[in-house]
Amino acid sequence: MTTSAEIMERYKKVMFPAAAPYHADNPIVVDHAKDQYIYDIDGNKYLDFFGGILTVSVGHCNDEITQRTMEQLQVVQHTSTIYVNEIMVKLAEKVAELTPQGLQKVFFTNSGTEANETAVMAARMYTGNPTIITLRHAYSGRSLLAMSLTAHGTWRLGGVVDPYIKHVRNPYTYRAPLGLTPEQVVDLCVQDLEETIATTTNGRIGAFMAEPIQGVGGFIVPPEDYFKRIIPIVKEAGGVFISDEVQTGWGRTGGKWFGIEQWGVEPDIMTFAKGMGNGTPIGCTITTPEIADAVQGLTFSTFGGNPVTMATALATIEYMEAHNTPENCEVQGARMAEKLDEFAAEFPFIGEVRGMGLMQAIEVVEPGTKDPDKTRTAAFVDACKEKGLLLGKGGLYGNVIRIAPHMNVSGEDMDTAMDIIGKALVEVS
Ligand SMILES: Cc1ncc(COP(=O)(O)O)c(C=O)c1O
Repeated sequence: MTTSAEIMERYKKVMFPAAAPYHADNPIVVDHAKDQYIYDIDGNKYLDFFGGILTVSVGHCNDEITQRTMEQLQVVQHTSTIYVNEIMVKLAEKVAELTPQGLQKVFFTNSGTEANETAVMAARMYTGNPTIITLRHAYSGRSLLAMSLTAHGTWRLGGVVDPYIKHVRNPYTYRAPLGLTPEQVVDLCVQDLEETIATTTNGRIGAFMAEPIQGVGGFIVPPEDYFKRIIPIVKEAGGVFISDEVQTGWGRTGGKWFGIEQWGVEPDIMTFAKGMGNGTPIGCTITTPEIADAVQGLTFSTFGGNPVTMATALATIEYMEAHNTPENCEVQGARMAEKLDEFAAEFPFIGEVRGMGLMQAIEVVEPGTKDPDKTRTAAFVDACKEKGLLLGKGGLYGNVIRIAPHMNVSGEDMDTAMDIIGKALVEVS
């Protein structure tokens, strides 16, 4: 029988080294996955609390969704947008129904990167202004434009430069400079945005783009009034607001369908990918009719709107509606947060626990300081894996543990995961 070590040796020969798997010393080679579990080829079973990076939103190979995917595969697999499929229209109607009222027109692609590319293109064409303001610690994808939008050095490869993209201070309250309070951090962010517009632009901008909670950045949650204070400045400068919901969409933050709804502001454009398709590649950009109409000329994506993808995403969203995942994210998220807070009180290397809904993070530091401890973070994630629980990592300094189970996670699985986390924390103490 082939072992994971043999496959890893072959992997290293044929794959770019930059595509580095987690658990470097002993990576997981997946055999199959079902619902909340992943099984490796060495016979180990893991409770998956990262869902392929917040992407397998309602369980691996979910029976109800797989059934609908297979049905569509037997009807028509691909036509491209040069012909129309009703399934694409149905999915667009569903997205328009669930997102804020003004957003009505949809463009489908294959990834979050492309969804963000589409959003930036539309904003630039609508406003006639190429300047895009985005946040430090943002992750926007891996095309050259998306890496330019990204403000996380680790993920900016190949000498990316787009002179029209400006990065302003993000509301990272845990790492506030000079010991500022959260209120003062928001003041500083507001001031930085105003100064950036005044000094690096002619006073007019095309768009401000932000994740409602920064994902790859380490689940950075802004203070409650942050967006309410930022968006009027963006509007004043003529910009539109793009909410990148690639991680925060579809109920993940608890109680509401989209992350930005937690903050009481309305975006002009929203982008989705990841969890929208429960593992099928999809990108989706939705905006107002006025902004969509400004995209004059022709643009298309060969696989955007692919019928099998559309059927899978529609089945995913209908499953989420039927099982009220926003509510489950709220309930199970609160259960997780309570337990993580207890751990934070017990283990001095936990600098902060933060998050919303089923998007919770632990920032790991040297006890008594805020110095990031990347080594202990990696050891902890490895220790969880050895005990059968898969978690994610993130943050600019690689010291944030990201916990984001499937949105239909049960209380029982949550308790199992918290039990393993408790034991792994003791182990790395
Ligand atoms: C917030 C956010 N936007 C965009 C992207 C890019 O998505 P993709 O990897 O599907 O291109 C990601 C991916 O992690 C993301 O987290």
